[in-house]
Amino acid sequence: MSAAGEFEIFLVTAPGLEAALLDEAREKRFRDPKIIKGGVTVRGGWPEVWRANLELRGAARVLARIAEFRAMHVAQLDKRAHKVAWGEILRADQPFRVEASCKASRIYHEGAAAQRITKAITDTVGAPVADDAAIAIKARIDDDLCTISIDTSGESLHKRGHKQAVAKAPMRENLAALFLRQCGFDGAEPVVDPMCGSGTFVIEAAEIAAGLKPGRSRRFAFEQLASFDSAAWNRMRGNAEKRSVDVRFHGSDRDAGAVAMSRANAERAGVASLTAFKQQAISDLTPPEGKPGLVIANPPYGGRIGDRKQLNALYRALGQTLLATFGGWRVGIITNEAPLAEATGLPFQAPGDPVSHGGIKVRLFQTRPLP
Ligand SMILES: C[S@@+](CC[C@H](N)C(=O)[O-])C[C@H]1O[C@@H](n2cnc3c(N)ncnc32)[C@H](O)[C@@H]1O
Repeated sequence: MSAAGEFEIFLVTAPGLEAALLDEAREKRFRDPKIIKGGVTVRGGWPEVWRANLELRGAARVLARIAEFRAMHVAQLDKRAHKVAWGEILRADQPFRVEASCKASRIYHEGAAAQRITKAITDTVGAPVADDAAIAIKARIDDDLCTISIDTSGESLHKRGHKQAVAKAPMRENLAALFLRQCGFDGAEPVVDPMCGSGTFVIEAAEIAAGLKPGRSRRFAFEQLASFDSAAWNRMRGNAEKRSVDVRFHGSDRDAGAVAMSRANAERAGVASLTAFKQQAISDLTPPEGKPGLVIANPPYGGRIGDRKQLNALYRALGQTLLATFGGWRVGIITNEAPLAEATGLPFQAPGDPVSHGGIKVRLFQTRPLP
C-alpha cells in the first residue's frame, strides 16, 4: 500500500471478457485501468474498492492488493508478513481465513505459507480464524514474489441480491452485462430475449437503462473490515441517479415457470414497470411496437448427442423468425457451438473470444441491424 493509502485493485471477471470490463471501468472513471489475464487492474483506495463493488456490472469480485514483498524462504515470509499493517485493514472481532498458492517459487508448501500469514494476522490483530469466514485473504507466491490481497466482495458479485428464483442454466449477471455491452447496448434501445429463462438479460438491461447500481441491495465483505466507513459508504450508496426510461425490455420463454420467475425477479429488482414477460414459443415471437433495438439470448447449449437434431431445429426456427420479422434489429446469440449459430442462418460477424460459463466455453455471435 502506498503512503497515500492507494493500492492496486484487481477486478476479476471471466477470461475472455477482460476487454469489455476494461471498457466499463473506463466509462465509470476508475483510474489507470489495465487488462491482465482474468480481469482488469485499477488504482485507488478503499472508497474506490467500495465503488467498484457497488457500480461495476461486469466484475465477479474485487480484490484489494494490500501488500507485495519478496519471500525466498518461510522465515522471511514470516517476518515480512508481520510487517503488513493488518491493524488498519482487519478487525479483531471479525473471523478471517487465508488461502495461499505457490508457483515457481522456493516456498512451495501452500499450507505452510498460509499458516505463516495466518499467524502474522493473529499475532498483530488477534482476529479469530474460521474456515467459513466471510473475509478471505489470498496470498499468491509467484517467482518468490508474495502478493497479498483481500477479497472485498464476499459472495460473487453476479449475485445482485434480487434473484431468488433461478431457471436451468442461468446466465451469470456479470457476464450478461458484459455481453450486452459487447452488443453495443447503452440503455437507450429496447431489448428482447425470446428464451429468457429467469430473465437475466432483460433485468440487467432494464437496470442499466434506469441507471440503477448493481450492488445497491446487497452486502459486501468490505463492510467487515477496519477500513470501512459506514457513513461514507451510505453517502456513496444513497447517491443514486434516477433516469427516466422511454424504452421497454421484453422477455419470453415457452416455459411458464421461467416466465413467473422472471416476473418475480424483475419485481424484486425494482424494474417491473420497465419489463414485460410472456409465455411464448420462439415460433410465435413478434417484435414489440416502436423502434428496433437488440435481440439477445442464450438458447439451450449443445452437448448431449441425442439433442442435436432438436437443437438444430430450434436455432433454425429462431433465425427464421428473426429474419422474417425483426428488420432493423441487431441480434446477439451466446452459444457453445459455431454450427448451432450457423444453423440460425443469421448474418453473424466474426464471433467473440471464448468465455468460460459454468465450465462450458461460450461465444457471442452478433449481427449488424438485420435487413
Ligand atoms: C439456457 S436457458 C436461458 C437462461 C437465461 N438466459 C437465464 O439467465 O436464466 C434457455 C431457455 O430457452 C427456453 N426455450 C427452449 N426452447 C424454447 C422455445 N422453442 N421457445 C421459447 N423458449 C425456449 C428454455 O425454457 C430455457 O429457459
